[in-house]
Amino acid sequence: MEYIYIVQASLEPSKCKIGKTNDLERRLKEYNNMTGKSKENIYQYLFACAVEDMSAVENDIKEEFYKFRENKSREIYFYNSPLFDDYVKFIKAHKLFVKEILVQADDKKPIIKIVKKTTPSLEERGVTPKELMQKAKNINNDEFYTQYEDVEKELVMYDNEIWKDKVVFCNCDDAVGSNDKNTSAFVLYFLRNFKELGLKKLICTHYGGGIDLFNQGAKGYVYIYIFTKNGFTELKKSPKNYTGSFDDPLSLKILNEEADIVCTNPPFSRAIDYWKIIIESGKKFIIISNISNAINTAFIHYFKDNKVWAGYNRIDYFLNPKKQLVDASGHWYTNITITNRPKYKHLKIIPLKEIPEKHRQYDDSKTLLVDNCYIPNDYKKTFAVSARPILNGLLEKGYKIVQDKRYEPYINGKAGFARVLVQKI
Ligand SMILES: C[S@@+](CC[C@H](N)C(=O)[O-])C[C@H]1O[C@@H](n2cnc3c(N)ncnc32)[C@H](O)[C@@H]1O
Repeated sequence: MEYIYIVQASLEPSKCKIGKTNDLERRLKEYNNMTGKSKENIYQYLFACAVEDMSAVENDIKEEFYKFRENKSREIYFYNSPLFDDYVKFIKAHKLFVKEILVQADDKKPIIKIVKKTTPSLEERGVTPKELMQKAKNINNDEFYTQYEDVEKELVMYDNEIWKDKVVFCNCDDAVGSNDKNTSAFVLYFLRNFKELGLKKLICTHYGGGIDLFNQGAKGYVYIYIFTKNGFTELKKSPKNYTGSFDDPLSLKILNEEADIVCTNPPFSRAIDYWKIIIESGKKFIIISNISNAINTAFIHYFKDNKVWAGYNRIDYFLNPKKQLVDASGHWYTNITITNRPKYKHLKIIPLKEIPEKHRQYDDSKTLLVDNCYIPNDYKKTFAVSARPILNGLLEKGYKIVQDKRYEPYINGKAGFARVLVQKI
């Protein structure tokens, strides 16, 4: 019998080995008896299957997942849960695949502690939207990783056509290391989906300043991944004096002369400069930023002038440099057309009188304030809303922002939370 297997050592959770054998039991013993291996480092199968021609399947795996091999001369591949799913999917779809071999239940126990994203409701978390907004405003921590699943969840929403023959530029510390721990989730996503999206080129930069989130050293670099007649080629350059900052002259040159779509999670503390540079470049972008930008004076004019709108999703958790989940709100923003925004359904556009009284009130200057995504459809004057309806697509439903500055209502002399002034067109 011929088999293909995926095996992993308990102390090396970011890697796995994909190999072939005629005897699964013997092979596992060999792994566990390797000289120089520590006793606690136990190898276990994550997956195994019978195939018709193990060498042919193994070669196809090597070719397909060329990018994810740690060492080109060995059978070691990067491991994370989405990548693992890809490996298994590929093997099972192979024409020489015969059947999966059930690995003993014990062997299937997860060796890796995968940090899973859970998205409890605000109610479950015991926070009000106002508190959450305040919290988001207070976040001044640039050193957050974006989780792979968040990148994937957003990017799969866009039509594949937008990526075809395009140069994607990830320009805020989107480092490319040897495994998924020292590689940004953006990079991983684009490398994994390079062919499927039909990308022309991926350019990523590592920022040499700040905390070294990805352990990539204090020197900025540019990483280029491209598909040519001769196959995939990658190149890492550290030009002299290059900082890797998004506003470094070389980064700006790439942005202005090469990039088609910019995609990253920039440092929150530099968001104002970042948005200015990206929006002025006229390039397409899909980026993460603070959830309250639509009611922040520094950004409102972009929404008002239709230069940016919300992407599909919000993000509730990031990973800190210790890879712990951090509860912090962000949202995707883009200038790529969004069709049939699923979140329109959260907008409750109805006559003013039908809005429950607790969700409509007038402030001290007689401006109407509405909450909870209630929007009057028969009110001619300007009224004030929170960021949420804007993120849910209000400006695509016949309403416009009428003032660049954020609106700060007072109710009986007490400041209420900030909003933005809108009006029915
Ligand atoms: C929110 S983190 C996101 C990191 C990564 N893009 C991701 O999504 O996981 C922002 C990163 O930008 C880096 N950074 C800070 N200032 C920068 C600058 N001027 N240019 C580029 N990156 C910068 C920070 O050190 C941090 O690694």
